[in-house]
Parts: sequence; structure tokens; C-alpha cells
Amino acid sequence: MTKPRVAVISGANQGIGFAVVKELCKSFDGSVYLTSRDEHRGRTAVEELEKLGLQPKYHQLDIDDEASVLRLRDYLQATYGGLDVLVNNAGMLIVSKDEDSRELFAESARSVVQTNFFNTYRTCDILFPILRPHARVVNLSSSMGHLMQIEGQNEPAITLRARLSSTDLSYEELIHIMNHFLESVQRGDHPDYGWPKKNWVSYVASKIAVSAMTRRQQRDFNADPRPDIIANHVHPGYVKTKMASFKGVLTIEEGAAAASWLAMLPPNNVMNPKGSYVWHDKQIVDWVNGPTPSLY
Ligand SMILES: NC(=O)c1ccc[n+]([C@@H]2O[C@H](COP(=O)([O-])OP(=O)(O)OC[C@H]3O[C@@H](n4cnc5c(N)ncnc54)[C@H](OP(=O)(O)O)[C@@H]3O)[C@@H](O)[C@H]2O)c1
Repeated sequence: MTKPRVAVISGANQGIGFAVVKELCKSFDGSVYLTSRDEHRGRTAVEELEKLGLQPKYHQLDIDDEASVLRLRDYLQATYGGLDVLVNNAGMLIVSKDEDSRELFAESARSVVQTNFFNTYRTCDILFPILRPHARVVNLSSSMGHLMQIEGQNEPAITLRARLSSTDLSYEELIHIMNHFLESVQRGDHPDYGWPKKNWVSYVASKIAVSAMTRRQQRDFNADPRPDIIANHVHPGYVKTKMASFKGVLTIEEGAAAASWLAMLPPNNVMNPKGSYVWHDKQIVDWVNGPTPSLY
């Protein structure tokens, strides 16, 4: 007997991830897992969806905890024999204040880059071996993750953009760039290497890395013996969530629309989007040169 298909969404107890679960519960043919780092918050979210007549399943997942990711992988392998949809939604944002010390700024940069990039990368590394043919991977990037957030025609910015957008970019090189970024933040000289001089530069860097990673992932999937695996990176819009201090312009359902669509791309014959940067209105955007359809 064939095992049911299965979708996993990280960081889904609230916000965009919660709304992706809601949408997939209605439209995905298979089991949909709402995961959260905190089990109580996750189970409460499941109950909320059950009240709407939906039937999400639950599993704990803290992407900062390697053992938690390994437990999920083993569970999926034993229960379903694989994984069909992975939405890497879990993420965090810390905007530093002008008066923060360099040490505090560097500490928050480490947290943001660790969760948003390094631990998302590790989650993929652990879960990708169990992806089945036709699997769909959706990585939550941001308008802040557009390569053109590295602004200007000065030499370091040009070089940094060229390295991050290179079709030869390896994971080792990307990890090296991100470790170097954190070291430069620690020293306070990250603008000398092309990074923007902004209080939210760590979020920008982390999401640019998520996007660069996705492009690499698709190149690997193109050569993978498992057919038709697709990874895309998405800007969900400026969405009314806790991360955006509930000030966004889109509802969580609107913010989840593009990610849910990418998670549900039909099997076979999808030429595009594939390794693409997708705007919240589902337009494919040139990640390297832009332009973006709107400011956010
Ligand atoms: N909102 C926007 O305007 C916007 C714009 C562009 C991109 N995004 C991206 O969209 C994604 C979702 O953001 P959101 O706006 O929905 O934010 P949110 O409401 O703050 O939700 C973030 C979710 O991620 C979870 N999370 C954080 N660290 C985690 C970890 N280590 N392991 C597992 N889960 C973790 C949070 O769990 P807790 O509840 O336990 O904290 C929460 O469920 C993020 O990647 C974000 O960067 C958002």
C-alpha cells in the first residue's frame, strides 16, 4: 500500500506558517504537519484549526535544536517513508537600536543569522535525504533578502553580489561568507565588505543567504536522481504578524498565498518557478537584478 503524502511547515504556531498550514489542510492531498518549537503553543494552534473543521497533525520542531530536527526526520521516515513538502518558514528578526553597543549588535546578528540561515540550512541538510520524487521545498526569504539590498557600485558591494549570485556558489563558500559577515559585525567593519549599514543588516544578510542557498539547492535537485524536486524562495509581503509588530498590510492568509501555491506546484512539467524568487503576488522576480514589483 502506498503511504500518504506528507507536508511539514516549520514555525507554524502563528503568523504566515500557521496560515500556510490552514491553506494546505484545505488543498493538499495528504497529511499536513503544523510544527512548532514550543509544544503547548503548537497544540493550541492545532486546536484553533480543528475548530474550523480542519485536521492538521502535529510534531515538535525547533530548528535551533539539531536533535529535534533528527527526531522529526526519523518520525517521517518511519511513518511515511519520506517527505513531500517542506516549508522552511521559521525565522526571527531583531532590529538593533542606535544606542546598542557593538557587542549587543554582534550578539543579535549571531542569533538572527544562526536561526534564519545556518539552522535552516542544517534543517534542509537533515531532511533533504528523505525527500521523495516531486517534492516541493519553499524557503521563506523576504524583500530584505533581495540581492539588491547590497547596494551601490563600490568595489566591495560589486564583489559581494557577484560571489552570492555566482552559479558556482557552493555551500562551503556561502557558509564562509556568512561567518565572515558575523566576524565583520563583531569588528564593526561589515560595510567595508559591501554589507549595508543598517540596524537590520543581520536580517538582510540572513535572508540573502536563504535566497542564495535556494538557488544552489535547485541546481543540486536538477542533478538529483530523484526526479522533479523543486525549491523556491518567496517574499510573503509585509504581513500583519508578531514579527512585523502586527503593522503589515497583508493578512496572514494573503501572506501565505504564494508560499502555499509553491508548496502545491503540480508534479512534472513545471519549468518555472524553479529555484526562483517569488513575490507575494506570485510574480517571478529577478533576484540578481530586480526590479521588484513593489517596495514590499
Ligand atoms: N511578516 C512579514 O512581514 C514578513 C516579511 C518577509 C518575510 N517574512 C518571513 O516569513 C516567515 C514567517 O514570519 P512571520 O511574519 O509569520 O513571523 P512570526 O509571526 O513571528 O512567526 C515566526 C514563527 O517562527 C517560529 N520560530 C522562530 N524560531 C524558531 C525555531 N528556532 N524553530 C522553530 N520555529 C521557530 C516562531 O515560534 P514562536 O511562536 O515560538 O516564537 C513563530 O512560530 C519568517 O521566515 C519571516 O522572516 C515575514
